[in-house]
Amino acid sequence: MLPKAELHVHIEGTLEPELLVRLAARNAIALPTTDVEALRRRYRFSDLQSFLDVYYESQAVLRTEEDFYDLAGAYLQRAAGQGVRRAEIFFDLQQHLDNEIEAGTVFSGLDRALRESRESHGVDAALIMCFLRDRGPEAAMRALRAAMPFRDRFIGVGLDSSELGHPPSRFRDVFAAAASEGLHRVAHAGEEGGPDYVWEALDDLHVERIDHGNRAMEDPALVERLRSEGIPLTVCPLSNVALKVVDRLDEHVLPRMLAEGLCVTLNSDDPAYFGGYVEDNFVAVREHLGLDEQALLTMAANSFDACFADEARREAWKAELHGTSSGSAPVP
Ligand code: ADE
Ligand code: ZN
Repeated sequence: MLPKAELHVHIEGTLEPELLVRLAARNAIALPTTDVEALRRRYRFSDLQSFLDVYYESQAVLRTEEDFYDLAGAYLQRAAGQGVRRAEIFFDLQQHLDNEIEAGTVFSGLDRALRESRESHGVDAALIMCFLRDRGPEAAMRALRAAMPFRDRFIGVGLDSSELGHPPSRFRDVFAAAASEGLHRVAHAGEEGGPDYVWEALDDLHVERIDHGNRAMEDPALVERLRSEGIPLTVCPLSNVALKVVDRLDEHVLPRMLAEGLCVTLNSDDPAYFGGYVEDNFVAVREHLGLDEQALLTMAANSFDACFADEARREAWKAELHGTSSGSAPVP
């Protein structure tokens, strides 16, 4: 198993049915069913929106600092078992605020799990707050304001949720405000939206990575832009199959992305719902897309190049990946 960074995972999407049932009981919240297998059977989706409906509904069980701590701790433990050295983790503060949870509760719980993680799981982790694009730019600005007292606990902002009809250009001001606070910027684009959404994410939001990016492959000029500027794509193959972005894994654009020389990384997105964590995505693309060891190594190396950790840590992880430990630079 290769060491890797995971750059596209929603912490709320790591809520396994077992933990969902436990948190619901702890917080006296009614679920449609407490049968874990029956919950799993609900995880069949026809598109992104059909998933988001279940995903947001499930988040109602997250109420206390302890809940957020348990959620992130469980993910980080699993991530360690999947070879993850660095995790840059999305969270949907806006949804929790709408559920009348205070920002401090969310930040404290997640942050405590992340701070303990290097020691207990050997995973270095950081948070990226996503704006929910279907709730509009004013709500995004309110979420940014609510998060600013906790500025030292997250490293960047992203853009997620229902894509079609909610183009990146609407979020220019809030991304500019985030940039002026020194926050990194990423955005989901080209999962269901067309190449124009990817152009807007680059030109209007000045993002440093594109999350998904599948439909960028429809536009040769955009492919050239992504290649020449080395913009990383955080691709999520098992998610794409689960949400019917592609009909079958063997039809995925990943091999074309690699052949075009794009900086592709592999990620799990919402692993509790899509049947696989990040290493499972590596195994699946090797089996179904015929990618060889070199391609997998390239994507693992890309994940370290594309992450927002400092250069010393990135180089140490890459040295570990290539089995060329320098001796003087232990993995932090
Ligand atoms: N939120 C959680 N998972 C998502 C995805 N795959 N696309 C958009 N928003 C999301
Ligand atoms: Zn995502």
